[in-house]
Amino acid sequence: MIGMSTASALLREDLRAFGGYSSARSTAVRGDVWLNANESPSASPADAEGALRRYPDPQPQALRDALASLYGVVPAQVLATRGSDEGIDLLLRAFCAPGQGAIVIAPPVFGMYAVCAKLHGARVIEVPARDVDAGWRSELDAMGDAALRDDAALVFACNPGNPTGEAIAIDEIERLARRLHGKALLVVDAAYAEFADADDAASLLAGNDNLVILRTLSKAHALAGARIGSVIAAPELIGMLKRCQAPYPLAQPAVQAALAALAAGALARTRAATSQLCGERERLRAALSGVAGVRRVYPSQGNFLLLRFADAQTAFDALLAAGVVVRDMRATARLGDALRISIGTPEQNERVIATLARQRRAA
Ligand SMILES: Cc1ncc(COP(=O)(O)O)c(C=O)c1O
Repeated sequence: MIGMSTASALLREDLRAFGGYSSARSTAVRGDVWLNANESPSASPADAEGALRRYPDPQPQALRDALASLYGVVPAQVLATRGSDEGIDLLLRAFCAPGQGAIVIAPPVFGMYAVCAKLHGARVIEVPARDVDAGWRSELDAMGDAALRDDAALVFACNPGNPTGEAIAIDEIERLARRLHGKALLVVDAAYAEFADADDAASLLAGNDNLVILRTLSKAHALAGARIGSVIAAPELIGMLKRCQAPYPLAQPAVQAALAALAAGALARTRAATSQLCGERERLRAALSGVAGVRRVYPSQGNFLLLRFADAQTAFDALLAAGVVVRDMRATARLGDALRISIGTPEQNERVIATLARQRRAA
């Protein structure tokens, strides 16, 4: 154990000598007639140029380079994934023995950590976040205690939190990462980091081999349909996850879309749109805080607001009648009166404000 990285110490025993699937695209060979992958020699009628005839590169270097540059790390620290959902799944597969492992989460929180754990037979240890005057607070010390007590391999910190909107201070993350060194991986899910005032856990990677960061192009980069996420971590850990990944996780059109979105001009437009959205979030928050029947609007560092209502059903129905579909959170523990509203265009946000204000007047 001494001198061993946290990932090596935690990798499933039965995967230590596992090389993963060796695909036709993962072996470096040269030639001009490619007959090694049982692909079609002719193009599909649906793909006149034959761009999709071949299996795609499992990890296109241009994409890894662009993602690394975006997130301020080196390409060896990046695994491109089929959305960050896939990153969560890979972490469970690599570090939790089926039917035996455990993870720690701080509900209310994004549901996929528990879903992936369930599918994998891993135990989910819940350390509920606290609902305090300033908003939601994940209890990182208690999460650390739980992980150490129950031998959990993975601790998920959603930052910014979905659906809470919480921002966890970077020094708290650093303290927990240090505490878990050698014993558990701290996974910071930064899907909404672009909307937050302060980023950036990536600066902590150098001193913490057990820190894993999840990023995605689905939110600020507006490519949810392309399914491109990233796991960012020490190169050794990236290699372990890669061996657990499907042979061709990234569809070619999705890679093209991602590369276009990561070009300099597109990135500048994305940054401007993100900043405008954050302005809208604060405008919507201020406006809805003044609406009768809205009990609480939590501060948010994401692209959404979490609200409590005197009568959430009536608010949900009124929005639906006005054509506005929001996320009903009422089945989630401690959110029995809550809805989550994604920030839309200024016009869409206006419709939300007008509908909720009108509905209350009519009541
Ligand atoms: C906190 C969080 N992490 C991850 C995801 C999954 O994102 P992706 O589209 O990259 O799979 C979401 C999606 O809503 C999310 O809210």
